[in-house]
Amino acid sequence: MSVPAENIDLTRFTTPEARWARFGPYYAMFPVDFAFDVVKKYSKQGDLILDPFAGRGSSIYAGGVLGRHSLGIEINPVGWLYGAVKLEPAAKAAVLSRLKEIDEKKRYYGEAMRKMPRFFRMCYCDAVLKFLISARRNLNWKHNAADATLMSIILVYLHGKIGEGLSNQMRMTKAMGPDYSVRWWQENGFSSPPELDPRELITRKIDWRYMKGQPRVFESRVIFGDSTVELERLVGKSEKTGVKFSLLFTSPPYCDVTDYHADQWLRLWLLGGPDQPKTIQEPNKGRFVNREKYRLLLEDVFGKCSKLMADESTVYVRTDKRQYTFETTLNVLTECFPNHKVEITDKPFQKRTQTELHGNKSTEKGEVDIVLTR
Ligand SMILES: C[S@@+](CC[C@H](N)C(=O)[O-])C[C@H]1O[C@@H](n2cnc3c(N)ncnc32)[C@H](O)[C@@H]1O
Repeated sequence: MSVPAENIDLTRFTTPEARWARFGPYYAMFPVDFAFDVVKKYSKQGDLILDPFAGRGSSIYAGGVLGRHSLGIEINPVGWLYGAVKLEPAAKAAVLSRLKEIDEKKRYYGEAMRKMPRFFRMCYCDAVLKFLISARRNLNWKHNAADATLMSIILVYLHGKIGEGLSNQMRMTKAMGPDYSVRWWQENGFSSPPELDPRELITRKIDWRYMKGQPRVFESRVIFGDSTVELERLVGKSEKTGVKFSLLFTSPPYCDVTDYHADQWLRLWLLGGPDQPKTIQEPNKGRFVNREKYRLLLEDVFGKCSKLMADESTVYVRTDKRQYTFETTLNVLTECFPNHKVEITDKPFQKRTQTELHGNKSTEKGEVDIVLTR
């Protein structure tokens, strides 16, 4: 079941689809309206959409809400969880019941709370920190829908402006390092965390999110994994079934700009990770500093995607304006889709479109869209 495109109003929170659309603060996320605009313009109901770098899943959500089968892949558990949950949140009663259990269990974690590093004791009041330890130890977020939904809602409010979430003053999309944060709190008059009741705060957030119900989303999902591996499987399946995608809509990581795992270290801690930022040494989980490896990642992923796309497909890729990322992405895409026509625009869905950027030597920050059509 999906929603007629004309009934989607993302500017007001009058529908469940609008309430869940912006779920999950994530670095370098698509504006939600943009994701809906691309899906509406470049696909039709029943089409198949693919996003191999799905982030918080806006492309997949827009596709699903608008009646397209949509499939994403995301390697970062934080992005994956936001995407997976907004496509199919668990029933509200089940989420509230798990919240009650997690909150009741927090009484067992007094000692664990006292042993936490100073950063955590300054970031969260005792009740919140015990609650978070309880959630971290007891929520089976990978395999249970109610646990995944509750965990993702806690993740959203794990850090942000004071008064808006569970933490002392923090940025919402990116967690700063522990030493930096402790110093900053001391110097700026935030030496104690806000006193609050975690169950009460999370209940209010659940009530708001579910106020209009659950979104109606057409068969769509996000796979938790590495695209270089997962796409291989999909290519094998597609060779047997003949099923092909008609829109590839994505935004790859930018070269040497963001470390998605280190920047989300506090949320990753809640999901079971280390209690301080760590650059992960495994492939595709770092900052993409090595240019050669970066190009190889794009060649691998877009090469496999090209085998999954129908002849008459559209490819819509948002990327960094800076020279290396832009030129590499453009070159790889034109090699993978040699029969497509290329357009480049930095003002999509506005009057002035198709700014010609070939040969661009820009060091300017910002984004640019590469659109390949037949
Ligand atoms: C620019 S962000 C995408 C943001 C997304 N468009 C959104 O709206 O949230 C790129 C994403 O690619 C993911 N990524 C990087 N390498 C990957 C890989 N090999 N497989 C799957 N995801 C990957 C990163 O974790 C990051 O979330």
